[in-house]
Amino acid sequence: MALYSDKVMDHFQNPRNVGKLDDADGIGEVGNAKCGDIMRMYIKVEDNIITDVKFNTFGCGSAIATSSMATELIKGKPIEEALELSNKAVVEALDGLPAYKLHCSVLAEQAVRAAVIDYYEKHGIPYDKEKFKIVDCEDCEHAEG
Ligand code: FES
Repeated sequence: MALYSDKVMDHFQNPRNVGKLDDADGIGEVGNAKCGDIMRMYIKVEDNIITDVKFNTFGCGSAIATSSMATELIKGKPIEEALELSNKAVVEALDGLPAYKLHCSVLAEQAVRAAVIDYYEKHGIPYDKEKFKIVDCEDCEHAEG
């Protein structure tokens, strides 16, 4: 069996929603100190819906594929759903990732979360700060396949 699914290869080679939103309502940036990968996520929100999303990832192929898929999963969705997006959902949508690459999907989850939190903080919208905090991805202990 190939190491990476067709979907992973597709999103790595043709990433969706790459770039930057100059008029973003929320911006999240996360990094993994161990591998040095950095992900930045931009969201545009109207009437509680994510109307546009873009990302920039300086990182490995799995980080690019997972951030691309994460943008596809949250575009057009209510912002609360984006906050709840799990790395597991991203991995499932990509038809899996090798175990040692699961931390890359955590980075995508955290980048989306950071952008939503940034939006919430800017607009004084309350959220569960205990449940939705940004974790240090460095040790990958939050990765769930
Ligand atoms: Fe760092 Fe993939 S190796 S996110």
